Amino acid sequence: MYPLDWLEERSGLVGGVRYFLFRKVPGDTNWFHTLGSATLTAFLVQLITGVILAFYYKPDPNSAHASIDHITHDVTLGWLVRGMHKWGASVFIILMFMHMARVFLFGAYKYPRELNWIIGVLLLATGLFEGLTGYLLPFDQTAYWATVVAININGTAPFVGPFLASLLRGGAEIGPDTLARFYSLHMLLIPGALIGLITLHLYLVVRLGVTSPPWSDEAAGEGPPPSPPPARAGLVRPRPRAAVRGRPTE
Ligand code: HEM
Repeated sequence: MYPLDWLEERSGLVGGVRYFLFRKVPGDTNWFHTLGSATLTAFLVQLITGVILAFYYKPDPNSAHASIDHITHDVTLGWLVRGMHKWGASVFIILMFMHMARVFLFGAYKYPRELNWIIGVLLLATGLFEGLTGYLLPFDQTAYWATVVAININGTAPFVGPFLASLLRGGAEIGPDTLARFYSLHMLLIPGALIGLITLHLYLVVRLGVTSPPWSDEAAGEGPPPSPPPARAGLVRPRPRAAVRGRPTE
């Protein structure tokens, strides 16, 4: 594999990926441990479908809805890509909550993983904000009024509320500036923040290792049961004398 050897010699990247993929995890990890990777997969689907949608979407109040219509009805498989992005957003958020519930119920937020829990909370807030900014983009009645409600709720926050509302609106009214602002946040700033946070999150997962389920011996600090010594051909495995049936104990 010459190209891989070339890359490995100059960067060590191949060894890094190999370490990531083949690192040791506790023997009793189960399906619940796949929820983090499922969330990651949902996020990657959002990234890919989002880039394709951005080829056709026009962030301007006069053409935004028409461009969404064009994607849905004219562009080849546009309906599929748009549907995947729209429903995928809910899948991503539901999976994030399920993954968080698993981490909470398994006590995986405890020492030494508190920092990863904090990064997770930031991921949750940023992920929800991504959903909020995406909701305005079709610029139909639902999008418009949902955003009015969201901005008004932000406006009621103590002290910073009015500033926050005007920052999100980009002026006194929801209009072209709001749409441009939400689009920029939705496709640049928030995904960038999510990618950075996910990178940190996974770095800590690899560094600290994955926790066992609470019912496992490993979680109780007893370690895995010792594996039996390898059997040798032609010999009976030695046992304590008392355990040999039919022999009197000493
Ligand atoms: C974009 C969202 C997220 C992605 C892509 C993600 C990804 C992952 C992955 C792949 C793992 C390792 C496998 C696993 O335990 O499932 C993991 C572990 C972990 N995640 Fe997340 N996660 C996300 C959000 C969250 C949230 C919202 C929280 C909590 C508030 C959280 C807290 C943790 C913790 C504490 C661990 C370590 C668990 C352990 O060691 O057993 N994550 N995450």
